[in-house]
Amino acid sequence: MSDLDTKARELDSADELAPLRDRFVLDETVYLDGNSLGALPVNVPDRIADVVRRQWGELRIRSWEESGWWTAPERIGDRIAPLVGAAPGQIVVGDSTSVNVFKALVAAVRMARTDGGVRTGGGAGADGGVRTDGGTGGTRDRDEILVDATTFPTDGYIARSAARMTGCTLRPVTPAEVPGALSARTAAVLLNHVDYRTGRLHDLPSLTASVHAAGAYAVWDLCHSAGALPVGLDEHGVGLAVGCTYKYLNGGPGSPAYLYVRRELQDRFDSPLPGWNSHAEPFGMRPDFEPASGAQRGRVGTPDILSMLALEAALEVWDGVPVEAVRAKSLALTDFFLECVGAYVPDGRVTSLTPVSHGERGSQVALRCADAGEVMKRLIERGVVGDFRHPDVLRFGFTPLYVGFADVERAARVLAEVLR
Ligand SMILES: Cc1ncc(COP(=O)(O)O)c(C=O)c1O
Repeated sequence: MSDLDTKARELDSADELAPLRDRFVLDETVYLDGNSLGALPVNVPDRIADVVRRQWGELRIRSWEESGWWTAPERIGDRIAPLVGAAPGQIVVGDSTSVNVFKALVAAVRMARTDGGVRTGGGAGADGGVRTDGGTGGTRDRDEILVDATTFPTDGYIARSAARMTGCTLRPVTPAEVPGALSARTAAVLLNHVDYRTGRLHDLPSLTASVHAAGAYAVWDLCHSAGALPVGLDEHGVGLAVGCTYKYLNGGPGSPAYLYVRRELQDRFDSPLPGWNSHAEPFGMRPDFEPASGAQRGRVGTPDILSMLALEAALEVWDGVPVEAVRAKSLALTDFFLECVGAYVPDGRVTSLTPVSHGERGSQVALRCADAGEVMKRLIERGVVGDFRHPDVLRFGFTPLYVGFADVERAARVLAEVLR
């Protein structure tokens, strides 16, 4: 037995989160792709069977009330809230991340433009329709959106469209360049908390503060941080954030995303997608739109109940699990993986893109490698599942709820064998 093998066993036996693995359906595979699709929690299949057979099959329409379908988006939002450091009433679940990026970004531009302006109407209305500039430092001249130049592509595409719709210029900048790029023209900034390729963790507290100091709004994409590390949305004054639930929150393929709107901003959140579900009186069937208050304002249409209730069941795996403990284990796992890769993999075959500093590291390790696509195929054939990101990145995600240190050692050992 190698030293690292022994170390893995010791780390596993000291790991207080190790028993959580039993809450998931897993096999002998080393699953390091939970940053793409989280594993299936054991309680989900029976819950979904109940939702389909009893709630839908027997109760039918009554389930909107009796099974809590109608209120599921806010209820499940409140279940996610402590995982991202939010008090209840600020998160709504529904739609995809892409759609929520759109809602949040357009709403951010609208809010930036109405700040300081004289509001002439009550509540939110069509863009430009609820305020006049009135000579009070009219903020129409906020005509720029900054977008993380390294972002996952969907955010960039949505940002471009949001910019066109709001008459803004889109300016791609790296997160590090954001403070220097902010100006009186900046309306909104779309940022990723953790970079999807490199696993780099960006400084959410300080970037949020800089964006706000410039009079603009930051929209944070939490896809690669929620469920892997503390986010602290309330604590750090974040105004708007979105995230998916199918990665570290294990909600299942295509499970609905979420939208966080800070309580103080909710009355001013002017959604570009007002639907009947975000109406103050959805069943009033009125021709005029009057926005609901609270998190419900972020809804659009009928929620995807089957996916949503699968997510609700999946979130039960978090009962009694502090995010801080998850973060500590995540760092220990990624440290140990880097140590094993350093010891096993022949020199020069891979370069880590993942920051060494804990303060800048998410819960994944990205290794640049020649023929990365082919290498990942061979790893998967040998029972180590990560993923490949174009053009040359091997990506390994470490979900502390179900990945152990022996998995990590085996992954690095198999990688070294494949590379040899
Ligand atoms: C950072 C980031 N944003 C957005 C998405 C995807 O958005 P959607 O949920 O709309 O597919 C991903 C998917 O992996 C992602 O990594």
